[in-house]
Amino acid sequence: MTSSQQPPVPPTRIDFSAEDREWIAERIKTVLETGRLTLGPFGEEFEGKFAESIGAKHAIAVNSGTSSLEIMLRAVGVEGKDILVPANTFFATASAVIAAGGRPVLMDTDLATLSTSAAEVERRLTPDTAGIMIVHIAGVITADMPAIVALARTKGLWLMEDAAHAQGSSLDGKFAGTFGLAGSFSFYPTKVMTSAEGGMIVTDDATLDGEARIYRDQGKAGFYQNVHIRMGYNWRMSEPHAIIGLRHLFNVPAMLAARRRIAARYDAALSALAAGRPEAPRPLPIPKGCVSNYYKYVVMLPEGAARAPLKTRLKDEFGVQCSGEVYEVPLHKNPVLTHLDTGDLKGADAACGRQLCLPIFASMTDAQADRVIAALEAIYRA
Ligand SMILES: Cc1ncc(COP(=O)(O)O)c(C=O)c1O
Repeated sequence: MTSSQQPPVPPTRIDFSAEDREWIAERIKTVLETGRLTLGPFGEEFEGKFAESIGAKHAIAVNSGTSSLEIMLRAVGVEGKDILVPANTFFATASAVIAAGGRPVLMDTDLATLSTSAAEVERRLTPDTAGIMIVHIAGVITADMPAIVALARTKGLWLMEDAAHAQGSSLDGKFAGTFGLAGSFSFYPTKVMTSAEGGMIVTDDATLDGEARIYRDQGKAGFYQNVHIRMGYNWRMSEPHAIIGLRHLFNVPAMLAARRRIAARYDAALSALAAGRPEAPRPLPIPKGCVSNYYKYVVMLPEGAARAPLKTRLKDEFGVQCSGEVYEVPLHKNPVLTHLDTGDLKGADAACGRQLCLPIFASMTDAQADRVIAALEAIYRA
């Protein structure tokens, strides 16, 4: 078969084995029988095992990554305050700040990591800044993280992480989500693991843990008390979602190992392809000390290179589907957020314009990765 006759290589894939499906179905049957369908023992087990997996004291399961961000922000109180967020991130990082009553202030992007440098965090601080939100784009943790932690501490500001991309990524042995006061995760189906929909807050802070539990359940003083003490919402995770998440969590070590195997294959081939070819894409370098989860495998195109025709060629000629850039446009270029544009976010503009995400997922075969490599070689060696 030629590459055009083979099934396309998808950008990502969600895998639940027959055994996984059986395990999940059995437990969903149990909760249907007992009627304990939300905030129950499976949710608690999921929280405990998740916290343990990244070395956090507390984990609070919620119904999305967007909810987890808003809850963390409400728990510390951001009303009328400036919160630093990257310009290169998903909409929810900023929209959660707005929903919680705060003002997002955008930070520019470090092209070497697609994240934010400590210098850029410092540059954006004003007397109105209340906190800093860092996002580990594509699962890459910047080597500046310790400097950002120190800066936040010196200035008396809280630091939080939107670690939606970075479950299982670490820097010098410390896991994403555990660098500051709290970390947020998403289990949306494209993430390294899924609960169908869902999110998780992690923290070592007992007060934040308690507040988050109140906020996620309509701001109630307790599960059985209809007394509302906070402006909460229904941000609860159901038991069927917790069961799906719990099962995928067991698979995370193997799923990350598989992603890392594919990434190493890409690294070797693409570094060779890039040698002496300035027009070829270059793998996003992984900072020293960082172990990426390879939520995305990002390559950077040279300045001015046209991404759309490359993606079309990869898809039409070679059956390689690249989609879901992180991100195609920065926050301030979204029509609903243009008021956040400070006019000096050129790094974010460049980062969003020049990156391409190659297909990567846990069940990807070496043969599929080799098809992606062969396609790029055919284009750039021609
Ligand atoms: C960086 C980032 N933050 C927040 C979210 C929101 O997560 P969710 O879709 O689970 O609400 C996502 C994912 O979709 C994300 O990628």
